[in-house]
Amino acid sequence: MGYDFTYDFDEIIDRRRTNSSKWDTVPGADVGVNYPVDDLLPLWVADMDFRAAPEITEALAEKVKHGIFGYPIVPESCYDAIVEWEEKRHGWHIEKEWIRLAPGAVPAAHMAVQAYCQTGDQVIVQRPVYYPFFRTILNNGAQIVNNPLKISGDSYEIDFDDLERQAAHPRTTFFILCNPHNPVGRVWRRDELERTGEICAAHDVLVLVDELHCDIVMPGYRHTPFAAINSTCRDNSVIVIAPSKTFNLAGLVGTVVVIPNRRLRQRFENILTQNSVGRPNMFAIAGMEAAYRHGGKWFDEALKYIHGNYEFLVNHLRENLPQVKPFRLEGTYLAWLDFRALETDPDRLQKRMLTEAKVWLDEGKIFGPEGNGFERIVLACPRSILKEALDRIAGAFR
Ligand SMILES: Cc1ncc(COP(=O)(O)O)c(C=O)c1O
Repeated sequence: MGYDFTYDFDEIIDRRRTNSSKWDTVPGADVGVNYPVDDLLPLWVADMDFRAAPEITEALAEKVKHGIFGYPIVPESCYDAIVEWEEKRHGWHIEKEWIRLAPGAVPAAHMAVQAYCQTGDQVIVQRPVYYPFFRTILNNGAQIVNNPLKISGDSYEIDFDDLERQAAHPRTTFFILCNPHNPVGRVWRRDELERTGEICAAHDVLVLVDELHCDIVMPGYRHTPFAAINSTCRDNSVIVIAPSKTFNLAGLVGTVVVIPNRRLRQRFENILTQNSVGRPNMFAIAGMEAAYRHGGKWFDEALKYIHGNYEFLVNHLRENLPQVKPFRLEGTYLAWLDFRALETDPDRLQKRMLTEAKVWLDEGKIFGPEGNGFERIVLACPRSILKEALDRIAGAFR
């Protein structure tokens, strides 16, 4: 394809019948579609169809070869690798003692709600947003309050007046902020985060910042770690990062929770202890350290390839289905598409996508009603798969 990449991101790796959530499950029961899996092209769940960096595979193979899978420890070198990555990539200095490890970002968010919220507390989210946040809040006896994002041209903005109102409510104690934002693809600017931080601190609203996509930032944009902005943000936040999106390690289930504030850290620690979690899987530890220590080159190329996929998608839609508007992608490998010119009813849109286009995307409606008429497509796949999906969609909706 005319680029000089070391790694072959064009390679099609068959993931069917590998117990892959993306490739081996069936969608659409809610709209009466029970579709044979092999006919459907899945670009829904946020994982990559790329083989991981060889250094990661080698580190895991080393463990397998050793053949002993007893209780592991987390070596200092793993914490060092996390700290060095954040410092080098984002200029954020983390003290090792701020770090706790958790079995997944969603479980970490669940435990954070348990640690910091009382039954009936209100938790702010910014819909349309990563939908498991809703369960995170409701499963733990809290309530969702929405600070809806506002569409502005081909992008989204925060409604700060509304945020101030929501934060000022006496029952509002917590905010799950997504940066970069899944699914709308914003990388919040420093000034936006600073203002968010000020509002939340002024109203005693603690901020959990899901920064899982923080490395996946497109050319021309820069991720600002929330806790690095100032001491107000640092002392009033719990930050979740992980190698899972950056290096495609979601199946290893290893997540990093950074809590600079000692008092907040202690409360999170208590929940870890109460639930007796926190001892990570030995493969998660090995994969995480190898990724942060040696995966940078692979990741830089993967990001370049993904950005190329985004440009491909924009051009493909412009030429073949101009009624569908892609939003500007600042970060994440997830493109957010506006289908409302073609179909506003979310169930009909889903059904047409599954039965006519035979492509499985994450339907906008699951991110909240603000997502009705939108679709989210994963760009972390070989370009030929993306092309096939876009051809099918254009064929069905043209
Ligand atoms: C913003 C965000 N948070 C959390 C997750 C899930 O993380 P985990 O699989 O570690 O629970 C995802 C996965 O797509 C995500 O996009």
